[in-house]
Amino acid sequence: MSVAPIDPDPPPRPPWDRRHLLGLEELRADEIVAILDTADSFLEVSRRDRKKVPAMLGRIVFNLFFENSTRTRTSFSLAAKRLSADTQDFSASVSSLSKGETFIDTAKNIEAMGADVMVVRHPTPGAPHLLARHVGASIINAGDGAHEHPTQGLLDLMTIRKAKGRVAGLTVGLVGDIAHSRVARSNIWALTKLGANVILCGPPTLVPRALERLGCEVAHDLDAILPRLDVVNVLRIQFERQAGGSFPSVAEYSHFYGMSQRRVDLAKPDLLLLAPGPINRGVELTPEVADGPNSAILAQVTHGLAVRMAVLYLLRGKAQAEPDPGRREPR
Ligand code: CP
Repeated sequence: MSVAPIDPDPPPRPPWDRRHLLGLEELRADEIVAILDTADSFLEVSRRDRKKVPAMLGRIVFNLFFENSTRTRTSFSLAAKRLSADTQDFSASVSSLSKGETFIDTAKNIEAMGADVMVVRHPTPGAPHLLARHVGASIINAGDGAHEHPTQGLLDLMTIRKAKGRVAGLTVGLVGDIAHSRVARSNIWALTKLGANVILCGPPTLVPRALERLGCEVAHDLDAILPRLDVVNVLRIQFERQAGGSFPSVAEYSHFYGMSQRRVDLAKPDLLLLAPGPINRGVELTPEVADGPNSAILAQVTHGLAVRMAVLYLLRGKAQAEPDPGRREPR
């Protein structure tokens, strides 16, 4: 194993006393900035010849994914490896869940193997919060239903901060299926805490006016808001979470809300275009926009690795420091 014995240039250690990362709703602005600053340091580490640091040597990180994932699962695995932790993937589809074992019993068995951190993705909102009350390991929410996806929100902010140099004062449009999007919720919490103006845009069935209570503007005419935007985050239609009938057809959705070159040309020349992935080319955005000069889609993935290194780094050891199961952090 190629591990530097002493990290010659460790990332800064901002104050951090949380044991779990369950959502961005509960984080203070300074805690969000602390994660982003730490992620900046790990981005620099990722550019070195020796990309591995010993910060989590001897620790065990389990990925418990009850939903499919490409980016989140693999980047958490790679992040843990770069911090020198041992990693293990748990596959729900080939587990003893099929024999009737419960979610909590499954997690307790994994903890009995020594897991220090569990990275959890689950279709049920609140599933990671439930585990945090029943196991002693640190829990990281990797997406719970339509509720939150905190590391996606953080990597989106990191990409904005890197491209624009700031978040405060920017106008950020979240476009698409806001109602069913955990990415939208995590973005809303983090962007508003850091002082951005957030506009939610999509058909009324997917962007109800009630979302204004989260401190955002709600709009249904994308062409009208585009000239005001510094950043547009194009969200995927969550067909798997919809009952259907939210809009007449995919073609009609693309006509009114798809990001095309014509729409990019309506915006400021330095519009930053984000999309959390997976992207549906030709539905939420055209291939020329996805691959064009305004797009930061692949930079988001690179930043995702740095953010996940930062989160694992900041949470590491909290479970050992507080061996009492996490009942102190009820949802
Ligand atoms: N953006 C995101 O969460 O992608 P995955 O579903 O591939 O992890």
